[in-house]
Amino acid sequence: MRTLLRCMTQVHGDAEMKVPAPVSHRYDRFSVGLHWLMAVMLLAQLVLGIWMTGLPKDAGGVRAAWFNLHKSIGMLLGMLVLVRLAWAVLRPRVIEFPLPRTQHALAIANHRLLYLLMLMAPVSGFLGSMYSGYPIRFFGMKLPQLAERWDSAKAFFSIMHEVSVYAMLVLIAAHVLAFAYHQVVLKDGLIRRMR
Ligand code: HEM
Ligand code: HEM
Repeated sequence: MRTLLRCMTQVHGDAEMKVPAPVSHRYDRFSVGLHWLMAVMLLAQLVLGIWMTGLPKDAGGVRAAWFNLHKSIGMLLGMLVLVRLAWAVLRPRVIEFPLPRTQHALAIANHRLLYLLMLMAPVSGFLGSMYSGYPIRFFGMKLPQLAERWDSAKAFFSIMHEVSVYAMLVLIAAHVLAFAYHQVVLKDGLIRRMR
């Protein structure tokens, strides 16, 4: 209890004091590294996905090349989120940031849903591509064909992919807006936990 109170005074105290948060109140190095690496990769992947679907179909292999790159980065992101989820369970517990009850619940819901969508996006993308009948390449390496072409399954997973990536965009926007509110309005140094 005393530790928690000490933490609250440090985090809620005058922002100008710039008191460094104790280690246990921050995410560990590995979590921080994965958070920023995946943030950059996910944003690039979202932009790439939206851009590539607008490419003309008769572009002499250009469209296929970008689709292959998208699939490769997507599968890599799928592997990274598995590592991140496993580490989120195993890592030392991070003491919760003191927030009013509703804001705390919203932050937790945002993080959990982001994890769910970080998982749903690569899985639906992979399954949709698997049922498309085209071979999937991982950075040039042809993967074994796991299923025959099946148009209804392809259509189902394409919709699931679309829903998950656009929902992810909305939640990322909410996440970044919440961060901006802490940084600019509350000035409570929340970012120090993820640095
Ligand atoms: C400019 C972009 C971003 C900023 C400034 C930012 C900032 C932060 C901060 C300050 C935290 C710590 C919150 C706390 O301690 O309660 C956090 C946690 C988190 N962020 Fe971000 N974030 C960004 C992008 C993203 C993106 C793109 C994703 C994933 C789609 C993401 C997913 C998460 C998750 C899941 C957590 C919970 C901690 C964890 O388990 O890793 N963030 N973020
Ligand atoms: C976190 C990972 C991923 C993200 C954020 C992502 C994002 C996107 C976005 C934004 C689009 C455009 C959606 C639209 O407007 O139709 C898209 C389309 C697409 N993505 Fe992904 N993607 C991911 C992983 C994957 C994976 C792993 C594959 C396949 C192995 C894949 C295959 C496709 C395909 C084939 C399309 C074209 C639309 C369709 O046929 O469904 N994606 N993706």
